[in-house]
Amino acid sequence: MKNKIRAGALISGGGTNLQAIIDACSKGTIDAEIVFTGSDNKDAAGLKRAEKAGIETFAVDYKSIINQYRKNPGELPLPHDFNIEEIKAKQTLIPEKAGNEKIEFFLKSRAGAEKALLDEILPYNIDLLILAGFMRTLTPYFIDKINTDKNHHKIMNIHPALLPAFPGTDGYGDTFRYGCKVGGCTVHFIDYGEDSGPIIGQRAFQIEDDDTMETIRKKGLELEWQLYPECIQKFAEKLIQQKNETIVKQ
Ligand code: GRF
Repeated sequence: MKNKIRAGALISGGGTNLQAIIDACSKGTIDAEIVFTGSDNKDAAGLKRAEKAGIETFAVDYKSIINQYRKNPGELPLPHDFNIEEIKAKQTLIPEKAGNEKIEFFLKSRAGAEKALLDEILPYNIDLLILAGFMRTLTPYFIDKINTDKNHHKIMNIHPALLPAFPGTDGYGDTFRYGCKVGGCTVHFIDYGEDSGPIIGQRAFQIEDDDTMETIRKKGLELEWQLYPECIQKFAEKLIQQKNETIVKQ
């Protein structure tokens, strides 16, 4: 019987969350195996952590794909099944008031990069995609290719704030600047919006008067390293149970 889920990870930076997950996998505290680690940045330090653990890695150069599209939109081949009207209708990342041109540029240029990402990811046949400090938003084009069953979320993210407060790229910074007395982190599933999908778990910490941006980030990260493996394990237990029940029924 299957007793481990297959997970892939995407990162952009140092990968301390990835490391916590790798460690939890090797200690056996989570029933998961990380089968690849990918990045939008070939120099991401987290890729080295994965390599050290014997995990296959790849990078998709988002920056140059987006620049290529900016320079010459006609030259970037869009995926054959990319339907701009369908994706525009689903997306909530960019508000309508930004204008059609901006929305289409965003969605088309990302789809070019996402196609390259999918070419790497799909052959691995994963049960879960873990975003661990992956600093790119994903369009409905990509999300639908991973979440093939509409009722079953397969993309998980960790966010450095207590959602729904402070979505976006700088959760701890926003928490600090607002003057909050409590900060925290959230693990959630990805949907078509920005940091808006169903919440799986959260952890909070007190913010004292002498806390700084750095101490807040430190307190938050330490909680992230506990919370993310726990949420992955919650997902794994449920999926393994479902799969085993299906095998027994057959
Ligand atoms: C974490 O704070 C995470 O919440 C956010 O990006 C940061 C990634 O840190 N999404 P690391 O690369 O895991 O060290």
